[in-house]
Amino acid sequence: MSAYRTQGKPDRNLALELVRVTEAAALGAARQIGRGDKEAADQAAVDAMRHMLDSVRFDGVVVIGEGEKDRAPMLFNGEHIGDGSPPAVDIAVDPLEGTTPTARGMPSALSVIALSPRGTMFDPGPCFYMEKLAGAAQIADLLDLDRPLEETVKLVAKRKGSDVGDVMVVMLDRPRNEDGLRRVREAGARARLISDGDVSAVLLACDERSAVDLLWGIGGTPEGVLSAAAVKCLGGGLVGRLSPRDDAEREAALAAGYDLERVLDCDALIASDDCLFSATGVTDGDVLAGVRYEGASGATTESLVMRSRSGTVRRIFARHDRAKLAAL
Ligand code: FBP
Repeated sequence: MSAYRTQGKPDRNLALELVRVTEAAALGAARQIGRGDKEAADQAAVDAMRHMLDSVRFDGVVVIGEGEKDRAPMLFNGEHIGDGSPPAVDIAVDPLEGTTPTARGMPSALSVIALSPRGTMFDPGPCFYMEKLAGAAQIADLLDLDRPLEETVKLVAKRKGSDVGDVMVVMLDRPRNEDGLRRVREAGARARLISDGDVSAVLLACDERSAVDLLWGIGGTPEGVLSAAAVKCLGGGLVGRLSPRDDAEREAALAAGYDLERVLDCDALIASDDCLFSATGVTDGDVLAGVRYEGASGATTESLVMRSRSGTVRRIFARHDRAKLAAL
């Protein structure tokens, strides 16, 4: 039975309440687009998300949050959220996924939240980064972090009945991903380098109709857990492996019992088929339009709202009256 079911009644779709949370965070962050202050943009998103989360009846614990308590006054890891009434859930938030793109007015910043039943969300502990490989359902069984990337790219081309030169791999533009980039290019495939935002890139890679076939690269572990929730709802595949930044992080992870060789699939990252995901665009991107302003006090948002158990994927276009909202 669904963890979110109210006895004897049709399912409550909590995702439809979560969309208000990511919309509020996106509207908050959007005031900071292009102002060059990523901390202010993040704080605006956090404040708005925290405020709206108070309207949701649930018993939530933040597993993926803004960091440790002292450094993040709100939405810190381990924080209890909600009025304590069922369902009991784990929460992953990234109020602003793409602080730098927002501060610089660049594409694909999102506000994101995911929920799963209590105890089912992977807690990354001290592990900041993970290697990730993701793609649509048609190639999900080909995702293997132990196979050389150039071979995977060729298998993807074969599966799709296309030339390897048609394959497009999206990855974060970072020195740590340069070896993979070289392998992709040597295989004859193409690469799309992004400055930030690998949750958005996973959504793109898992869409059969997009121009991107694969996401590969080392990016944030929290973003990996959020992405796994999205993939469970959308369909497709994602595998990850923790990738410590240095010896100290490696030792801390081993001491805490993390297996650094383990390949984490979506079921390891979210151990439930009953998860919820909502994302709202902050700046324009391939997946979602960003916040737009209309007239004196209007604004529009576009959100992706999904639920793995039912498989429903909604795009919600909303018009907001900022003057009325402020009065409320
Ligand atoms: P923020 O939301 O913190 O701005 O993260 C953006 C992001 O690009 C993620 O999408 C990605 O997983 C991570 O940062 C990569 O980390 P780094 O910038 O340290 O390489």
